[in-house]
Amino acid sequence: MDNHVMGFMVYLLLLLGSIFEVSVVKCAKSKGSSDSGTTFDVTKFGAIGNGKTDDAKAFTSAWEAACNKGLATSMVTVPSGKTFLISAIKFAGPCKSRSITFEILGSIVALPKQAWGKRDDDGDAWILFHQVQGLSVVGNGKGVFDGHGASWWPHVSLYDRASFALRFSHCNNLRVSGLKHMNSQKNHISINGCNHANISNLHITAPGTSPNTDGIDISSSTSLFIQDCVMATGDDCIAINGGTSDVKISRITCGPGHGISIGSLGKNGKHEEVEGIHVENCTFIKTQNGVRIKSWQGGAGFAKNIIFSNINFESADNPIIIDQYYCPHKTCDTKVGAVKVSGVKYIGLRGTTVAKDATIDLKCSKTVPCTDIEFSDINIKSVGGHAGNAIAKCTNAHGTARSCTPPVHCVQT
Ligand SMILES: *[C@@H]1O[C@H](CO)[C@@H](O)[C@H](O)[C@H]1NC(C)=O
Ligand SMILES: *[C@@H]1O[C@H](CO)[C@@H](O)[C@H](O)[C@H]1NC(C)=O
Repeated sequence: MDNHVMGFMVYLLLLLGSIFEVSVVKCAKSKGSSDSGTTFDVTKFGAIGNGKTDDAKAFTSAWEAACNKGLATSMVTVPSGKTFLISAIKFAGPCKSRSITFEILGSIVALPKQAWGKRDDDGDAWILFHQVQGLSVVGNGKGVFDGHGASWWPHVSLYDRASFALRFSHCNNLRVSGLKHMNSQKNHISINGCNHANISNLHITAPGTSPNTDGIDISSSTSLFIQDCVMATGDDCIAINGGTSDVKISRITCGPGHGISIGSLGKNGKHEEVEGIHVENCTFIKTQNGVRIKSWQGGAGFAKNIIFSNINFESADNPIIIDQYYCPHKTCDTKVGAVKVSGVKYIGLRGTTVAKDATIDLKCSKTVPCTDIEFSDINIKSVGGHAGNAIAKCTNAHGTARSCTPPVHCVQT
């Protein structure tokens, strides 16, 4: 077939497609039920929702119907008042529909360890959304993702957990809002390779002692808003990893947990870049750390233009940390080079700490020092009998300090 004929046929198909789409929308409207053509209820696809039968197949069918319908917008809905047991599942795009809303009003529960079976290596998640553009996963504050983690936590060294309960991979223009996430096997939510995301009003909980149950992990993503979330978990509330830029985080209540972390960056000599991070108006309650930047020795790249402002600590341990000698093992080899940390502002950080060592602890690389580190309006008081240690310590960290309790003279060298 010659190119002109081919081009004309493609045009004809597109034209037919758009006429068909218009008529479907009109038809749905004229029936008077506003959503009949665009809403895909999982129970209409065979989901039972008794908490015992695996409903994954029905969810996949509802998803495929919504994804392939080719409507401007379509919705998958998980109704309230039911508990849907779901084995590892992948909601794959690209979709023909221009935007898809996944509405979660009921509970979605994972299989416990003894019934989990082979782990899903495809994305290493319990629930994976992959390459879906214009996706909204939303609830009214009552919908739940329950990872059934307690059956895994005592055996972490023996069993390979799914790394993430809910993972968004390469989903641009993403919205996640109004949901509860609890007791994931390992991390709760992953945002990977997603540009333009708005994450809000999430409630993420797991016991403070549950291993590696991060709230939200971000990697290789740009232009994100994360706001109005409550997170109480056994590890980082939010972790920002390599390849991430332009992230605004605000109004997060964190604790128990390990605080908000950038890194760890530069593991195994890796080159990683993080820039343009603003963490604002957050509260840390009894967290193991507050705001932390951590990198391995021997890495490369940078973490720059980072602002922590208007942060409140309530009995937080280690409120402010930069650690370029991150070493979660017993010992790490001494290496030359590091991820360069620069342009970090701490503005208006207040409250109380139970730190036994330093309140502000900046351990920067000997070969790649931290530069342009700015402190202003800091007032963090010791409580719990360690008042004598309410100090700032710096190695290889350079910048300015204004109105700081404890004083941060050590950075002005
Ligand atoms: C993000 O979504 C929330 C809730 O839907 C909304 O209130 C907020 O304005 C959005 N933020 C941005 C920056 O779009
Ligand atoms: C943070 O709090 C300040 C002071 O209350 C307010 O002016 C600012 O708009 C807030 N920003 C966000 C993103 O919540």
